[in-house]
Amino acid sequence: MLKIGVLASGRGSNFQSIIDGIKEEDIDAEIVVLVTDNPEAKAIERAESNGIPVEVVERKGFGSKKEMDARTAEIMKEKGVGLVVLAGYMRIVTETLLEPFKWKMINIHPALLPSFPGLHAQGQAFDYGVKVSGCTVHFVDGGMDTGPIIEQTAVYIGGCKSADEVSEKILPYEHKLMRKVVADFCKGRFIVENRKVRYEPM
Ligand code: GRF
Repeated sequence: MLKIGVLASGRGSNFQSIIDGIKEEDIDAEIVVLVTDNPEAKAIERAESNGIPVEVVERKGFGSKKEMDARTAEIMKEKGVGLVVLAGYMRIVTETLLEPFKWKMINIHPALLPSFPGLHAQGQAFDYGVKVSGCTVHFVDGGMDTGPIIEQTAVYIGGCKSADEVSEKILPYEHKLMRKVVADFCKGRFIVENRKVRYEPM
């Protein structure tokens, strides 16, 4: 069975969607660890109430980002992780962590990439005035939300009156998309060729 390691910095509602998917037997996997860089993250409570081990890996505990990521990679390897999920992890991952998990690390972004990468994607979409935004699950590479796109959902945001409203509108679609991609990951393989991601069921 696939072992999942989750990286989250905050609320953890996307993390929760994977927990729920496993509970409801939609996802055939086990979450073996939550690694967080924020000891106050609500994601920690979610892990604890579901018996998922938590490791806090804070930036201040390390001399460099590289050393911090080396510790995270070590934890993931020790736990036998086959898929790393970034669920609201607010840091750029360095090569130290990327290299051992090439095409085995995914991120969710609350916009239709390549539009509105980086922070406050929903605010960027609102300020720009687009009528359609959405969410993207993509493989993680060395850039900011630049990795090959696995799947996307478009969401109509034309009626939204604030950035918060955009966030609220997109969030349930994030949860569905995250759950689906992780479920698919357990049932087959995503193959990356020239940036294009193709799915091969097992
Ligand atoms: C989500 O909007 C996700 O797309 C972005 O950060 C937010 C995290 O929310 N990367 P949560 O912690 O999963 O509730």
